Amino acid sequence: MEIRIVPVTPGKKKPKPTDESKLGFGKILTDHMFTMPYHSDKGWYDPAVRPYESLPLDPAAMCLHYGQLIFEGMKAYRGKGGEINLFRPTENIKRMNESAKRLCMPTLDPEIFLEAVKKLVLLEKDWIPRSSGASLYIRPTMIATEAALGVHPANAYLFYIIVGPVGAYYPEGFSPTKIYVVEEYVRSAPGGIGYCKAAGNYAASLMASAIAVEKGYTQVLWLDAVTRKFVEEVGTSNIFFVIDDELITPPLAGTILPGVTRDSVLQIARSWGLKVSERPLSMDEIITACSKGIMKEAFASGTAAIVSPIGQICYRDREYPINRGKTGALTEKLYQEILEIQYGEKDDPFGWRMKIG
Ligand code: COI
Repeated sequence: MEIRIVPVTPGKKKPKPTDESKLGFGKILTDHMFTMPYHSDKGWYDPAVRPYESLPLDPAAMCLHYGQLIFEGMKAYRGKGGEINLFRPTENIKRMNESAKRLCMPTLDPEIFLEAVKKLVLLEKDWIPRSSGASLYIRPTMIATEAALGVHPANAYLFYIIVGPVGAYYPEGFSPTKIYVVEEYVRSAPGGIGYCKAAGNYAASLMASAIAVEKGYTQVLWLDAVTRKFVEEVGTSNIFFVIDDELITPPLAGTILPGVTRDSVLQIARSWGLKVSERPLSMDEIITACSKGIMKEAFASGTAAIVSPIGQICYRDREYPINRGKTGALTEKLYQEILEIQYGEKDDPFGWRMKIG
């Protein structure tokens, strides 16, 4: 399938941001988008990169009623020499297809998906920030467009990709965040869609996040739905703790997102010879480690957040500082390592960088 390119008329181009330190996250979107509709009678058709515009959507479109809506988060990075890199894009493509299968949506041809990302990013290359830590965020999205109110998998979909320059995800930047452990609400349950990047997971998270923010915390630390004892994720990211000399993250058991950055952290840490465990980690163990003084570091990992230090946890109205509220040495080292690989500032021993321009 050939991807058509319809450029925006020069007079309609949006002004580009001038101050990269004020980008924030997800507020600015570029001039073009990729779109590709699907119908069960003919499969995917008419892929095109074209001017960014509103979608014509029937008020009965099924994504609006029954939540068949999945997405991904990827980034394009500009290296010091001006080259443009993607980071492990095939992992996001695989995960999008896993989300699609679980929500009874059609899967995408990985080749056309990657080609669409490349074409769109290269067309928008002047929007890619130049400062380290800033990048072009890529948001592939799939929605059910069939207009029908009966509950069943839709017969029509739209896959689209929008992109925009971003800075740090959290307002704190790379400074340690404060995390609130929520027991009353859960994000996902065994057998559910917690491992998918599905809109419903984020809707389910909003109330607890709002409570955390109201109490003065940056994000929520989610516990498992069954026992409410074991940690799962933090906000929209995966979570890691360093207890004594062990780097620990919860296992992928279907209720948490299989993060690409999570996997990258694990592979890097293992290659450094660290003791790394993907295992259940209870709040009891965390609190005991804090009181014994062996809770060394904690951080979140994600495409948007990269590696983000955690300086304090609030559990049952008690506050537990981690590393005296400061960024830990391993957190800092992992952050630098991942950033340098992404921006092409060092060797890429794992072959994760994909130079596209
Ligand atoms: C990401 O890390 O890419 C995310 O999608 C997190 C959030 C912005 C939903």
